[in-house]
Amino acid sequence: MPPITATTTAPASLHGWRLFSLLALLVIVATALALLWQPQLVEALRSAIRVTARTSFALFLLAFLASSLALLVPSPTTRALLRERRFFGLAFAFSHLIHGVLILTYAQLFPELFWNGRSAATNIPGSVGYLFILLLALTSFPWAMKALGGRGWKALHSTGSWVLAVIFCLSFYKRIPMSPGYVLAFGLMFSAIVLKLVAKLAQRVRRNAQPARTSLATAR
Ligand code: HEM
Repeated sequence: MPPITATTTAPASLHGWRLFSLLALLVIVATALALLWQPQLVEALRSAIRVTARTSFALFLLAFLASSLALLVPSPTTRALLRERRFFGLAFAFSHLIHGVLILTYAQLFPELFWNGRSAATNIPGSVGYLFILLLALTSFPWAMKALGGRGWKALHSTGSWVLAVIFCLSFYKRIPMSPGYVLAFGLMFSAIVLKLVAKLAQRVRRNAQPARTSLATAR
């Protein structure tokens, strides 16, 4: 009889590239529905841009909070979320790729509407966001991790995710006058930032307590 291993006993679950493919498919379906829902092309594009920003936001939150949740609320679910963080991150990048393609289409077809109240300067935060999304996605493969080294990789991914968190905060904050719903979205992003900071603090406290406990044990 073959030895019973985690792979032979675990049910065929959703993880890795299969999880990524499902998430990417859901983003495509949501985009298609948003495009088909509106009879006017201009409104269809704007609605699909908003929908992809929201799918990106949900996926970003999962990747951004995975390690904090696994630390603060350890459970099989949060451990699975942490294990699959890379694929949630890549699905976020995919969703934002669609956001970008839709924005370019909108700018191409309706330049006067796109540039209304917008300038090259106001596009800077979004462009910086895209630069980080590209860097994070490209460096989420083992060869890139090896090339960057542990410290470099961690520094890039930590900086990138904080930059993106701030961009989400700003994007929702500036839309609050348009609808009260944006207060909720801003509040969600803000709470996620607070949760991540709390997790970092908890990790530091735990790390500092470790040597004290070890030296106490050796002194006994
Ligand atoms: C230069 C790059 C970017 C441009 C030109 C751009 C443009 C747009 C446009 C035109 C909308 C829809 C406006 C409307 O009709 O309501 C939008 C929505 C949004 N974008 Fe982007 N975007 C960019 C990058 C980003 C990045 C990097 C992020 C986040 C990391 C982001 C997050 C959002 C959010 C949160 C919304 C609001 C969605 C909602 O209404 O719920 N965008 N963006």
